[in-house]
Amino acid sequence: MVLSTDFVNGVLEALYAVQIALRDAWHALGFAGTVADQPAWPFAQRLAAERLLLEPGHARRVVITLACFAGAVILLLIALAAGFLRRPRNAAQARRRMFWRAGLAAGAAALLVFAPWPSSALLWAPAVPTSLHRAPQPFSTQSIAQGQAVFTQHCAQCHGADARGEGPLASQLAQWPPNLAGGLLWKRLEGELFWRVRHGMRDARSGRETMPAAPALSDQDIWSALDYLQARASGQMLRDMGAWERPVRLPASRLDCRYGGLRGSDSLRGQRLQLVLPTAGEAALPPEDPRWVTVVLGTAPSGSTPECQAQDRALLPAIALLLGVTPQEVPGHKLFVDRDGWLRARSVPGQAAWSEDDLICRSESAPAAAAAVAAAAAAAAAADAPPAQGVDGLLRRMDADRMQLVRAGYPH
Ligand code: HEC
Repeated sequence: MVLSTDFVNGVLEALYAVQIALRDAWHALGFAGTVADQPAWPFAQRLAAERLLLEPGHARRVVITLACFAGAVILLLIALAAGFLRRPRNAAQARRRMFWRAGLAAGAAALLVFAPWPSSALLWAPAVPTSLHRAPQPFSTQSIAQGQAVFTQHCAQCHGADARGEGPLASQLAQWPPNLAGGLLWKRLEGELFWRVRHGMRDARSGRETMPAAPALSDQDIWSALDYLQARASGQMLRDMGAWERPVRLPASRLDCRYGGLRGSDSLRGQRLQLVLPTAGEAALPPEDPRWVTVVLGTAPSGSTPECQAQDRALLPAIALLLGVTPQEVPGHKLFVDRDGWLRARSVPGQAAWSEDDLICRSESAPAAAAAVAAAAAAAAAADAPPAQGVDGLLRRMDADRMQLVRAGYPH
């Protein structure tokens, strides 16, 4: 039996929500306090979703066991509810009822006994009080800029200016710092990264300190440093792999729009955006199009009034970081942001037209989305409509393939 990605993601999302609800209930009852302004996770363990994805057989066992468990609960509830039926008319009916209730209970027990219980070593991961914390601030140009300052001052000496782990102090440490410009950050829960930066890390066996604690930093400094690192890792990924393997948000920033005046970029959620970064000599903006809102970052060519103009000086360096280029190399790029606020497609300087190949962020279910688009194209061809090409094809693929951020195995 093969479980679909959507189904497994749904189960994981539910498991995550259940743990958060449990934590919040514990807090509301007064059993657990707050840490860093959010309810603390009170247990030493949490469900390890990251392992579910690494080993498909394990995921299947967990899902089947959950189904067995749910089935057992339903059978027991029916058996219990039967106790509230009207009094049996005679002894024979009472006996029959007894028989059925015992049967239901036995069925529930059998489901629990024969469920393929997953190994508990794979089920649990060590937890800290901030395990389920979420960054309290949006991923924004401001947090990236603040994080860069924090990182340069407090972290780069070990982690290296490029976060790849080769800072000037690295060779003198008990342990070499990991490469933070790769996929590592997404393999962790952000709350656990926060805890490690705040309280430092120790070698599991010797107990020796491997990374020092950072008591001087504010909570916001730490969340910002993590935002910066994530932006940096995204750019590195795009450079190395030609794609963002993890979805990347357009950092929240301020825009000045023809309709609506000054507004946050998040207020345009639900619209597609085309981010245009004009070069100094550019004569005209690309034509406006009702299918997206054009946002100009930089100086618009004279005589043009863009639909939206970015007001935020920190947006250009943030985009440079996400693209893995220097700020000087940014002009000439264009980017598409989807309706959910994810950066999805890139056109490089000098590129004439858009095509589906410009999609640089696809989900794991991208093949299914591509198949759906192909089927729609075949239907259109049968109806004698021209096939979607260029920007049409790109937008269709972008809309059909919705992104979801996954951290440590949990869809967020
Ligand atoms: C004295 C050197 C040093 C400094 C300063 C330092 N780190 Fe580290 N960092 C390390 C080492 C070594 C490790 C690996 C520790 C281990 O795996 O036990 C590490 C690990 C990490 C990790 C990976 C955690 C994980 O879950 O695997 C992150 C994220 C991180 N550091 C962020 C930071 C940030 C942000 C700062 C600055 C606020 C910082 N570090 C400052 C040495 C340092």
